[in-house]
Amino acid sequence: MKYNVIALTQLNSDQIKKLGFLHQRVLHSLLTDLGAPFLEHYYQIARADSSVIGMCALGAEGNLLGWVVGSPLPGQVARRMSEAGGWFIIQVLRVLVANPKAIWQAFVSLRSASVTMKPGAVELTYLGVDESARKMGLGRELLSAFIDAARAKGFASVELSVEAENAAAIALYTRVGFRVARSYTEGAFDRHRMELILK
Ligand SMILES: CC(C)(COP(=O)(O)OP(=O)(O)OC[C@H]1O[C@@H](n2cnc3c(N)ncnc32)[C@H](O)[C@@H]1OP(=O)(O)O)[C@@H](O)C(=O)NCCC(=O)NCCS
Repeated sequence: MKYNVIALTQLNSDQIKKLGFLHQRVLHSLLTDLGAPFLEHYYQIARADSSVIGMCALGAEGNLLGWVVGSPLPGQVARRMSEAGGWFIIQVLRVLVANPKAIWQAFVSLRSASVTMKPGAVELTYLGVDESARKMGLGRELLSAFIDAARAKGFASVELSVEAENAAAIALYTRVGFRVARSYTEGAFDRHRMELILK
């Protein structure tokens, strides 16, 4: 399969919207529960945030096949979403009516994200590959690109959280050298915190 890996900053607004849809389709996360408007907004902010490391894989026809994104300040991007004033309040109210548990989970996750980072660490926040492109090495390539960028920026380690039942992702992370640092429950989810020491 042919694809190009490009920086998140190179995506146009239409591709950012598509990234939101890809995330919603393939990766269960807090943002998925909050819905498409939050996802699109999250990636718009991430694209413009200089602390963010992000890469995307585009197929031969320009279709998005996968992405990886992370930051040493993972809570910052999420918190900046709330700066959109009226838009944010309307979206929160919308989710509160449709899926109140998601708002509670958001609160729990944001608190947890801000206290678990070690000094010198960068968090890999999201990684996903379209179903049509799985088991061909793309996930590993995106993960390697993220680790290379983290190393080049001088980070001491890469951290991530993964749901304990996500066998595919845990196998991928373990294969490139991540180890479980601790296991914990965050709201409704059992998770592992995994880390890769870079120096
Ligand atoms: C996890 C994910 C990114 C892997 O992407 P991928 O492109 O299929 O992975 P790769 O082809 O690069 O596989 C790399 C390694 O991962 C492991 N792996 C991938 N899929 C696996 C599966 N379904 N079961 C077990 N191991 C798997 C294998 O060890 C593989 O190494 P190998 O080829 O030497 O055996 C993909 O399954 C995905 O997008 N899942 C949904 C989103 C998600 O869970 N993201 C992670 C959230 S923390």
